[in-house]
Amino acid sequence: MTEGISQAERPQVLEEKTGDLFNKFDAVIHTRQTLLDGGVEDPFGLVMEKVLSPTRAICNGRDTILLGTYNYMGMTFDPDVIAAGKRALDEFGSGTTGSRVLNGTYAGHRDVERALREFYAMDHAMVFSTGYQANLGIISTIAGKGDYIVLDIDSHASIWDGCALGNAEVVPFKHNDIEAMDKRLGRIPEGAGKLVILEGVYSMLGDIAPLKEMIAVAKRHGAMVLVDEAHSMGFIGPNGRGVAEDQGVLDQVDLVIGTFSKSVGTVGGFCVSNHPKFEILRLVCRPYVFTASLPPSVVATAATSIRKLMHSGAKRAHLWENSKRLHGGLKALGFTLGTEVPQSAIVAVIMPDLERGAMMWEALLKEGLYVNLARPPATPAGMTLLRCSLCAEHSSEEVETILGMFERAGKAVGII
Ligand SMILES: Cc1ncc(COP(=O)(O)O)c(C=O)c1O
Repeated sequence: MTEGISQAERPQVLEEKTGDLFNKFDAVIHTRQTLLDGGVEDPFGLVMEKVLSPTRAICNGRDTILLGTYNYMGMTFDPDVIAAGKRALDEFGSGTTGSRVLNGTYAGHRDVERALREFYAMDHAMVFSTGYQANLGIISTIAGKGDYIVLDIDSHASIWDGCALGNAEVVPFKHNDIEAMDKRLGRIPEGAGKLVILEGVYSMLGDIAPLKEMIAVAKRHGAMVLVDEAHSMGFIGPNGRGVAEDQGVLDQVDLVIGTFSKSVGTVGGFCVSNHPKFEILRLVCRPYVFTASLPPSVVATAATSIRKLMHSGAKRAHLWENSKRLHGGLKALGFTLGTEVPQSAIVAVIMPDLERGAMMWEALLKEGLYVNLARPPATPAGMTLLRCSLCAEHSSEEVETILGMFERAGKAVGII
């Protein structure tokens, strides 16, 4: 980074170092520096000095409402979850120091896989150290050279990286466009292996996929289907199994990918499936084999949280209320939102550009509200977004307070 280099010196320093492999980052360095030179706080470097609850933290010495976490179901401070983690720490130590296929499978790893099988009512569950690794591992292992992956262009980075690692032919289609997906599938040579990859909720705009129609098309072409339900697990669907459950097509999904880092409230990733040969993946999936397994405290918290999420209908209902209240309120204030109606726990507020997005982000932080500032390449169509993600632990009064903060900040920055 060029911190400490003055505006006048910078171009010279960058030019001098030809052959420096870091030169490829110059454009990013420049964008970041321009933002910081404008005097705003670094939106990508905020420190939470103390976390008080799933919805509150001390940031810059100030009590701040958190509206930019993925803690959808507010499980991070659940007393049963915390007690399970402490117990596991005492009984099994701080870490496994090994791979799942060597010394890194403890009773707790088996138990969290059992909890996932119960949660999804599926035959198999495999736990990875992160959701990123679950996508990386499953996709690259099942779709290799000569196979075809047809995927939504707005797919998460971990999906793209899984495709790249496996060396399959990658065929993207326009976001949520059923016809485009159908056409791409129709052009794949007869007899080739085909994997369609979709997400339940797309995390940038918070919109959902028409999985029912898309899975029907995929199956008509004889493709296997993988659905990443990272942002829907625990919340969407009658049992919180995700968008595929909500649309009544979970039984047609070959592989569901998920994460513990959102509704479950800890860290880790997983894949669940009914495929009869699924268990072989434990021996051939490199991002599962060649990395250390999750610490005992983490799998214990995950298992407890997942089992509680099976009986969280009231929390799910309140989270929907929060999402509707925030979406409706922001729309009424005149903000441009990522979706016409609330479709998930994510409400994306579209900013005119990065500069004003950063100003708005900072104005909200000064009000005592944390949201995510998202920008390309993470966002679609070059958009700058203030991404709000709601939690089942936000009270209705807190959502009203949040709307007041948005109104004041939006007027101060000139966005509404
Ligand atoms: C759709 C999707 N898949 C996978 C992941 C990776 O999850 P994890 O944080 O467990 O690595 C994310 C994380 O943001 C995501 O949004």
